Amino acid sequence: MGSIHLVTHVPGPKSVDIVARRRAAMSNGAAFLTELAIESAAGAVVTDVDGNRLLDFAGGIGVLAAGHCPPAVVDAIQSQAGDLMHICNIVATHEASVELAEALNAAAPGDFDKKCMLMNSGAEAVESAVKIARAATGRAGVLVFEGAYHGRTNMTMSMTSKYSLFKKGFGPFASEVYRVPFPNILRRPAGTDVDEFIDWSVQRLHDAMIGFVDPTALAAVVIEPVQGEGGFIPAPPRFLEAIRQICDTHGIVMVADEVQAGFGRTGRLFSIEHSGVVPDLITMAKSMGSGMPISAVVGRADLLDAPHPGGMGGTYSGNPLACVAALETIKIVNTPEFLNRATEVGERLRAGLELIAAKHPVRVAEVRGLGPMLAMELVADNALTPDPDLTAAVTKATTARGLITIRAGLFGNCVRFLPPLTITDEQIDEALALLDDAFSAAVAEVKAR
Ligand SMILES: Cc1ncc(COP(=O)(O)O)c(C=O)c1O
Repeated sequence: MGSIHLVTHVPGPKSVDIVARRRAAMSNGAAFLTELAIESAAGAVVTDVDGNRLLDFAGGIGVLAAGHCPPAVVDAIQSQAGDLMHICNIVATHEASVELAEALNAAAPGDFDKKCMLMNSGAEAVESAVKIARAATGRAGVLVFEGAYHGRTNMTMSMTSKYSLFKKGFGPFASEVYRVPFPNILRRPAGTDVDEFIDWSVQRLHDAMIGFVDPTALAAVVIEPVQGEGGFIPAPPRFLEAIRQICDTHGIVMVADEVQAGFGRTGRLFSIEHSGVVPDLITMAKSMGSGMPISAVVGRADLLDAPHPGGMGGTYSGNPLACVAALETIKIVNTPEFLNRATEVGERLRAGLELIAAKHPVRVAEVRGLGPMLAMELVADNALTPDPDLTAAVTKATTARGLITIRAGLFGNCVRFLPPLTITDEQIDEALALLDDAFSAAVAEVKAR
């Protein structure tokens, strides 16, 4: 028997009712991608309030590398909750926060002294990295990329690229943010060779130091080594090396935003490790806490010590429950067994996605990603016209059949796959068979409109 078991239509009547109450009681500003109300979850399976069991390939948007409710994490939270739920690291120190910082410093790439700052969300970590870089360099400028997503606070929204979904109506934005193209190989000019395109992208980066901003005005270059919301686009290693070289030459802080791609999501603890490039600071969140709200900036000790005492942190930074959850999650994720298995998950999933793509050669422009962080980009024609309608139809069709998937991409035309990496081969195969069926149904539905 498979993992998926549906006892009602999806969404079922209880989900519909709760979602209607959500619409009435909660702000429209926080959107939702499915009409499901979930009651419980374990591993890769969620159970909704109607008793339907679904496979979760959204993983709380990349939060559940170690799966839903990993028993060791649950035990640690339960036992910690009875002892101390909060003290505030500004008032006093809780040992788990120190242990966590030590573990993160040891795990992050870089053969230099490291320190760590704990925060609550991905956006807060990115915003903190910018503050650290500014304090350390005495400069204001921040260089970011087309397609980037860094969060929804004012600074990180300003650093985020996609306007309509994330920025419309929310200006004025933070100043001193400069944006350059990201080498999206699929969308390179027709007829251009891949290597030449990467050369061109590197040259654009150098040109930006004359045309957009002087490098001596830049505090930081912030890059997602694999763009997340942008559609799971890996940065070519040569591009990351060029950023490293520019940062070294001009004393700029290189920040790798690993909020979505970190913590095992690509088969390495941090996705930038695939390239061998060592950033000065890494921002991390999502899978770090298996669902507890926790994030961190980890990197060069001298940079982390640059802000004045009191300038950083917050009431909940280093919360005991979140710290013990993260400590147990690292023990699970940062092992060769887990990371090797994550790579196998990626290989199996990619092979299955390629087979589905081969059945729809015009509609699937690309299956791409790094390790098990995979997406399909969907288009309407050979000219690669983005097809967000087909994408929405696919995610709706998979969810109705019991497989939760969500979209991504600057053009909203990628289906992204973020399953728990504890998933079994049988569950991957079950999901792929269902996706195959849902994809054909979605193509027929969109054609008939
Ligand atoms: C790369 C990246 N940075 C930052 C963020 C913001 O994280 P949060 O939603 O926890 O604020 C995200 C969230 O998706 C992300 O993918």
